[in-house]
Amino acid sequence: MELYIDSADLTEIEEASKLGVISGVTTNPSLLAKKGHGNVQSVIQKICSLIPEGPVSMECLGTTAEEMIEEGKQFATWAPNVYVKVPFCIEGIKAVKWFSANAIKTNVTLVFSVNQALLAANAGATFISAFVGRLDDIGQDGIAVVKDIVDFIDCHGFSSQVLAASIRHPLHVAQAAAVSAHIATVPYKIIQQLYHHPLTVSGIQQFNSDWQTFTKQ
Ligand code: G3P
Repeated sequence: MELYIDSADLTEIEEASKLGVISGVTTNPSLLAKKGHGNVQSVIQKICSLIPEGPVSMECLGTTAEEMIEEGKQFATWAPNVYVKVPFCIEGIKAVKWFSANAIKTNVTLVFSVNQALLAANAGATFISAFVGRLDDIGQDGIAVVKDIVDFIDCHGFSSQVLAASIRHPLHVAQAAAVSAHIATVPYKIIQQLYHHPLTVSGIQQFNSDWQTFTKQ
């Protein structure tokens, strides 16, 4: 499973890119608005330069297929690794069908069910963003939905990749890997938490202490 960072914060993304284990970036309008990015094209191009080999998702805001197609055609000119993020809806799926027929990579987002993912896969979505945390937030089992989507994608040989999104804590990352999600997109704070385990910290301290004691004999 690949790890992407779910962020529009250039500092976070730059720090994450230095770890050498982050393969892409997902943004969304809320993340961009939170950072107050007025010149979105410039920010997305900077993000694309920070992770030049990885997909960078930029989301459409249009409401019709025609509007989303025009937006996506523009996004695709910003950098070769821009993926057009399309919110799941009837117009969005029409747009994804056009994008897939015109060699523009897509990320269908705000997917909460197997049937939504089935429609996205049939439209040729490159990525399908299944939201885990928001399902958990309403008492449903978000990871189980990811598993069901992965299972049908593999069973029927669709080329779409399942991207576990709306990750709320490190356990979601482990669970997404356990159900064979292709990608998990993770907030930077949670990426940092993935590294930490108290037994590792105490183990390193003990190794160093024992060695120091030995070498002072
Ligand atoms: O990319 C999707 C992700 O940003 C949504 O996460 O926490 O707003 O549900 P969240």
